[in-house]
Amino acid sequence: MDRREFLKKTALGVAALAATSLLEHPAVAAANEMINNKIPNNMKKIMVIDGGPRRNMNTASMLESFANGAKEGGAEVKLVRLYDMDYKGCMSCMACKLKGKASNICKFKDALTPVLEEIAEADGLALGSPNYFGEITAQMRAFLERLAFAWLSYNDYSITAPKRMPVVLIETMNGTPERNNDHGYGSMEHCISQALGQPEKLIAYNTYQVKNYDRYELAGFSEEAKRKWREEHWEEDLQKAFDAGKRMAEAKE
Ligand SMILES: Cc1cc2nc3c(=O)[nH]c(=O)nc-3n(C[C@H](O)[C@H](O)[C@H](O)COP(=O)(O)O)c2cc1C
Repeated sequence: MDRREFLKKTALGVAALAATSLLEHPAVAAANEMINNKIPNNMKKIMVIDGGPRRNMNTASMLESFANGAKEGGAEVKLVRLYDMDYKGCMSCMACKLKGKASNICKFKDALTPVLEEIAEADGLALGSPNYFGEITAQMRAFLERLAFAWLSYNDYSITAPKRMPVVLIETMNGTPERNNDHGYGSMEHCISQALGQPEKLIAYNTYQVKNYDRYELAGFSEEAKRKWREEHWEEDLQKAFDAGKRMAEAKE
């Protein structure tokens, strides 16, 4: 055996040895067990999308409560705050409708791309937005354009997501059940129900817009009435969100 052949054989031997010891590594063995279903890997993944700008106020609290319920129900929860991200609404690039390459996941690349890809594979989705001028926030709308335009076929006008899943739509607002200007998620609600399934809706009405009404020009609102409403409803609203999260996590397929 010449030197060249000796070196080649030695290198192959070392590589084979390394591969064998890698296969024996505990992490690889654990993954193999999981693949062979020896360890159940049925943890649901639920995506929670916050379309409000305030981190600690009404919408965020409702979503946090939902997420806590989902975690208690055994799900893995991923919270995405749209206002922390740099992304656009639908750019009308039409890449999702290219002949032979049509996709029901948006093809435009920006910070939203990994979120849209994760939603495509998730087991559940919760969206939250404050009511702004009767509708959802601009960020939530832009997000939904990116999510839903790729679902829509211009061949037959069908609306199809990569995967159907339970959805909860959360809104918070100044309005009351009797007096409000709410249009909910508007036409996006139709897309969501076609593509993913009929959503469950949760609305927290007559929320506290600020913590201290004395500091602001908000004479159109009676803080006393707001306080009374809050005492009677807010804990219940949060509980409903918690229960919805737990139900989603625990639901059988
Ligand atoms: C720009 C803006 C527009 C709003 N428009 C409405 C509205 O049209 N109807 C309504 O009931 N509340 C409206 N509100 C009140 C918010 O929906 C309400 O305070 C909500 O609970 C705020 O959510 P957050 O605490 O998560 O920010 C508006 C608030 C802002 C800042």
